[in-house]
Amino acid sequence: MTKPIIIPPTPESLNYQVKDYIESLIAIEDPTLRSIRLNNKEQGLPEIQVPSHVGKLLYLLAKIHGAKRILEIGTLGAYSTVWLARALPSDGKLISLEIDPQHVQIARQHIEQAQLTSCVEIWEGKATEILSDLIKNQSPRFDFVFIDADKENNTLYLDLAIKLSQPRALFLIDNLIPKGECVGRPCNGEAGLVYQFNEYFANHPLLEVALIPTLVGQGRIDGLGIAQLK
Ligand code: SAH
Ligand code: DHB
Ligand code: MG
Repeated sequence: MTKPIIIPPTPESLNYQVKDYIESLIAIEDPTLRSIRLNNKEQGLPEIQVPSHVGKLLYLLAKIHGAKRILEIGTLGAYSTVWLARALPSDGKLISLEIDPQHVQIARQHIEQAQLTSCVEIWEGKATEILSDLIKNQSPRFDFVFIDADKENNTLYLDLAIKLSQPRALFLIDNLIPKGECVGRPCNGEAGLVYQFNEYFANHPLLEVALIPTLVGQGRIDGLGIAQLK
């Protein structure tokens, strides 16, 4: 008899099992969210929406916080938008900013499908410009902000969003642990910029911050920033 060969699980495969376990236990998508995620893929959008355990966390944080005015930067196909908007009271509002017209069109269809048109608006354009306009026009303040667009603008988005927010507002920032080998160390390109942002975020004088690991794709570890305005 030959001995069975036991292949030890890689960290990624264990991470994947943990992600799958948690999501099938506490972050099950209803048919609408599932259909939105699948349609994103069918329409050729990149599969970079938040994983469902992050969607559930965003929803729960918005609900615990009693969020009434949510700002989202980076809509894609409105998958995270739907998780967040479901936490709103009936008179609540979510404004989501998206630069790509095709993404905007698909996102608007998904908002209709999710029956959230009365509280969600998707605004098309460059987020920095829209945010500057909102500041200029003295927009009503937001109490919850989710930043998930082009990572090189995170610093700008955070500071513009702070100007648009109420005291004690919550800020959530996706993708703070980028792909690559050089965790936390100076590295080139987008990853380097994210680690630079993390230093800024961690030491921001106006914020109390946390940064927690999340699981994406095939068990890769990413990070979600959580902060409250002082
Ligand atoms: N929050 C979404 C994923 C967003 S992916 C979800 O979890 O479901 C990032 C999105 O940001 C993409 O759709 C991209 O087109 C958009 N984006 C990139 N640069 C932008 C900019 N300068 N202004 C507004 N949106 C931008
Ligand atoms: C990627 C993932 C994201 O969550 C995002 O917002 C943008 C890009 C990525 O894996 O490339
Ligand atoms: Mg993201």
